[in-house]
Amino acid sequence: MQEKIRAIVEKAVWAPSGDNSQPWEFSFVDESTLQVHLIPHKDNKILNYKLSGTYVAHGALIENIVLLAGKEGLTASVMLLPVSDDPLITAQITFKESASSSNLPDPLAEAIPARHTNRKQYEPKQLSEEARASITKAAAAASDEITFHVLEDKKRIKKAAYAESLIQKIALETPTLHSIFFSNILWKEKDNTGEKQGLSLKSMELPPPVEKLFPLLSHWPVTKAFNKIGFSAMASKTNGDLFASSPAIGLVCVRKEEPVQYLEAGRVFERVWLAATAQGVSFQPISGLLFVARRLAAGETDALDSKHFDEISLAANDIAQAFSLTNGEIPLMMCRMGYSAAATSRSKRAAPVFRTSHA
Ligand SMILES: Cc1cc2nc3c(=O)[nH]c(=O)nc-3n(C[C@H](O)[C@H](O)[C@H](O)COP(=O)(O)O)c2cc1C
Repeated sequence: MQEKIRAIVEKAVWAPSGDNSQPWEFSFVDESTLQVHLIPHKDNKILNYKLSGTYVAHGALIENIVLLAGKEGLTASVMLLPVSDDPLITAQITFKESASSSNLPDPLAEAIPARHTNRKQYEPKQLSEEARASITKAAAAASDEITFHVLEDKKRIKKAAYAESLIQKIALETPTLHSIFFSNILWKEKDNTGEKQGLSLKSMELPPPVEKLFPLLSHWPVTKAFNKIGFSAMASKTNGDLFASSPAIGLVCVRKEEPVQYLEAGRVFERVWLAATAQGVSFQPISGLLFVARRLAAGETDALDSKHFDEISLAANDIAQAFSLTNGEIPLMMCRMGYSAAATSRSKRAAPVFRTSHA
């Protein structure tokens, strides 16, 4: 059984994670029980309020494990946060040979190897009826606590898109965020092996003149000088235009700032992403502004500049209005969806680490 579970985990780690940080390790409790461990130092401290992005990545990973187990004729019973005083053990998963096996392949499980982030321009073409239906169905498994919304109305898309794109301006105007952003770039495609955290430059799909400028912009004084002639505002506007041209924007919300809800939300986010992939729909998470806004609302202002506080709050309000969120819905993960050319580059993965003792 352990060999089968290891093979499942090797495929499941193709789950998404912020900056491809792959913040996970694994251990076996016994022959058929796996524990999943969260590695907190992989967290991006500013963009990842309360480790929520890291828990979302774990939710996606856990969803992949369950789907892949089904594909292998196993059932996987998941206990989230099984150790009450250790929130870094995100799941304990027990596998059993399944008594009833369905011969029908699950399209979500089949889509796991193909799922990836596509940051290209999307075509101005509505989602097909079939894509819309399967994305909605994939999210329907969400509990009352986790909600999923999709915008297809142009005006609302625009409002959410330009609000989210403010993060680009803030990242370029704030030294700590600027430094985090540029230190997470894998400049050469040969470094995109999965061993190093970060995004390959090619996967960012930058227009050629901007890609050429990027090494220069990694120096804070250069960016600062460029900002004086409107660079940060222009970069943010360009991203806003890109997001606004997408035919659909989705949003997963939680009701409480709690690890268990982040994990459940991550599972829903992954199901939606896999359903989109199975339908040939390109997908990009666009959530940076939401993370910063939640941090600011909680009074955690470290590394942020007070000149941005009002802009961040207004942008978060715009997103809540665009989606007509009800009281108590906390926007966690936003994404854009649409049809596009293939991504230029995909992030690779390191082999999963299995601890020798499960402690
Ligand atoms: C919590 C979370 C937040 C993310 N935020 C963004 C984002 O704001 N912009 C973006 O382009 N990609 C974002 N991503 C996508 C990751 O960068 C991507 O999943 C990772 O680099 C692995 O690449 P892949 O999805 O192509 O396999 C996010 C992923 C997660 C799980």
